[in-house]
Amino acid sequence: MNAAGVANAALRRTILAAADDRRVQRFVRRHGRKLGAGRFVPGETLDEAVVALRRLNDRGLLANTSLLGEGVRDRAQAEAVAAEYEVILDRLAAERVGCNLAVKLTHLGLELGEELALANVERVVARAASHGNFVRIDMEQSAFVDATLRIYRTLRERGRDNVGVVLQSYLYRSERDLAELLPLRPNLRIVKGAYLEPPEVAYPGKADVDAAYVRLVEAAFAGDGYTAVATHDERLIEHAISLGRDGSRFELQLLYGVRPQLQLDLVRRGHTVRIATPYGPEWYPYLMRRLGERPANLLFLVRNLLRG
Ligand code: FDA
Repeated sequence: MNAAGVANAALRRTILAAADDRRVQRFVRRHGRKLGAGRFVPGETLDEAVVALRRLNDRGLLANTSLLGEGVRDRAQAEAVAAEYEVILDRLAAERVGCNLAVKLTHLGLELGEELALANVERVVARAASHGNFVRIDMEQSAFVDATLRIYRTLRERGRDNVGVVLQSYLYRSERDLAELLPLRPNLRIVKGAYLEPPEVAYPGKADVDAAYVRLVEAAFAGDGYTAVATHDERLIEHAISLGRDGSRFELQLLYGVRPQLQLDLVRRGHTVRIATPYGPEWYPYLMRRLGERPANLLFLVRNLLRG
């Protein structure tokens, strides 16, 4: 890694570590709107999200949406999240928006128990199936990978096919996980990984994460499933496109507010492009991960604050 890379990686770790500091939390939560959180999160309500989703559809972009939240440690709250997702799915169907769901298992109670998270996510997946829609299970911190993959497998064993999962290229284990999942003809989203992970489980260097990303995409494309190549890294996007996979068997995914021109350029080139568009009042950890990915975004926030 060169000097700039080392500085960037250090800044990234500092931002992700600072996200847990109560004073940072209080400040960013209080000034979120003014800081420009709206660049990455279109709103706090489903109504606001639907407006943004429509706007994306109008530009030829598909979407997925999530009610922001994670780490729920109250059973009733986790069940309420599942119920809210049913409402969201009904609304997406009624509005005929081109949008599926992405959910986090810790939002649906994984830290309270695997059975609870499974029951809640199955309820969401079943409602999605009734609308012909699809649910992606996001991947969270490395401590949750085993449980997440077990739940995904259980859903598939129970005949739930409208569900997919995520693999993170920064984890050493992901290539093995991919090989073990391939016989299921999985619907996989490949990402680099957004959490602060120790070198015992994840590549610390960007070059290694990028190289692992290429290997994962190539291995996924060699299999029979559907692959979502989720990155803003143009080199990796172009590499995936150059592999020549049939357009019905992969899509490109980017985040709301990140590289919007690239999103449109890819649509114009005829690719299926889906924009992850989460919403809700619990935007804080999500925003901090977006900052960690690109420390230059800190400047964007500071500029907004000064402008305020
Ligand atoms: P990289 O970080 O190398 O960035 C490549 C280029 O893209 C940068 O040079 C910069 O210009 C631009 N860029 C990247 N991030 C930016 C940002 N936040 N703001 C502005 N510009 C930015 N992670 C996870 O652990 N679990 C998950 O389930 C998901 N799900 C998910 C879905 C989708 C649709 C996407 C696109 C990403 C995720 N992620 C994720 C996040 C992912 O792990 C990763 O942190 C980000 O995608 C950033 O990495 P890139 O692949 O974009 O590459």
